[in-house]
Amino acid sequence: MTALSELTLADLDLFEGGAPWHIFDKLRAEAPIHWNTEEKPNSGFWSVTGYHDIVKVLRDPDTFTSTHFTNLEEVDAEQEEARRSLLETDGARHRALRRLLQGQFTPQAVSGYETFLRGLTATTLDTAFAKGTFDFVEEVAADFPIRVLARMLDVPDHDTNKLIEWGNRMIGNTDPEHADVLLEDPESEKYRLVPFRSPAALEVFEYGQNLANQRRGKDGVDLVSTLINQVPSDGIPLSERDFNTYFLLLVVAGNETDGNAAGRPNTNSMGS
Ligand code: HEM
Repeated sequence: MTALSELTLADLDLFEGGAPWHIFDKLRAEAPIHWNTEEKPNSGFWSVTGYHDIVKVLRDPDTFTSTHFTNLEEVDAEQEEARRSLLETDGARHRALRRLLQGQFTPQAVSGYETFLRGLTATTLDTAFAKGTFDFVEEVAADFPIRVLARMLDVPDHDTNKLIEWGNRMIGNTDPEHADVLLEDPESEKYRLVPFRSPAALEVFEYGQNLANQRRGKDGVDLVSTLINQVPSDGIPLSERDFNTYFLLLVVAGNETDGNAAGRPNTNSMGS
């Protein structure tokens, strides 16, 4: 097991076989607040792994702000302003933006999708099983969540593979298997003002804007129609940047997370 002094969660090899739960156990037991070193140009970060400490951090945005961004890439003030989404917003504005769509994620609202979800589960599994042997991640875990999100965004089924591919190109921006422009590649400098420093973000923005133009002023009830036709409770309408980064957050947050939770077997139980 790696010595605590050398342990850093910035080491992606730790996550090679899935979530390294034994490492989180070690951190909780020996260093619930731990300094993680990083290679230049990054400057390192604290990891908080104890439940009660995490709750304290989440409930104290004045001390622990999300406004300086939430992923490992370090961004400057200009990038923060250009790329800010709901996730990187605190306080009253955060609550107003979140309240805009919150009603569509309540247990009651989601239960409205039950028939659709049961049908989708049946067709997704039937299609996969009909193949005899199949890749569970590709056929089920990656496919299922995006079809649910596509329904909530009211986008056509034939666009779901595009949404998956965009998500992979952005979240996988350090992985040559997925990224068309790697995060550390000098060429990514062209995209420093868009999320994930990825050209995929511009394609998602364009796609979202086309949907918004089709639904502006109409009475749709999908997530895009709500974002484009309603004003947050603080009375400040969404700017074009707000809409673009909110739409992109939904495409990424609602796809990659579920797909990973459903599909990635956790093989990393043994110490590294
Ligand atoms: C296994 C599934 C999922 C996991 C583990 C997960 C995890 C997370 C985490 C850790 C955050 C950050 C919270 C913070 O920094 O305060 C977050 C935020 C968010 N997630 Fe998820 N998520 C999942 C599924 C989804 C789905 C299906 C959607 C939407 C379709 C979604 C939409 C969002 C949004 C919009 C935010 C920003 C919320 C805010 O800032 O208030 N997530 N999620």
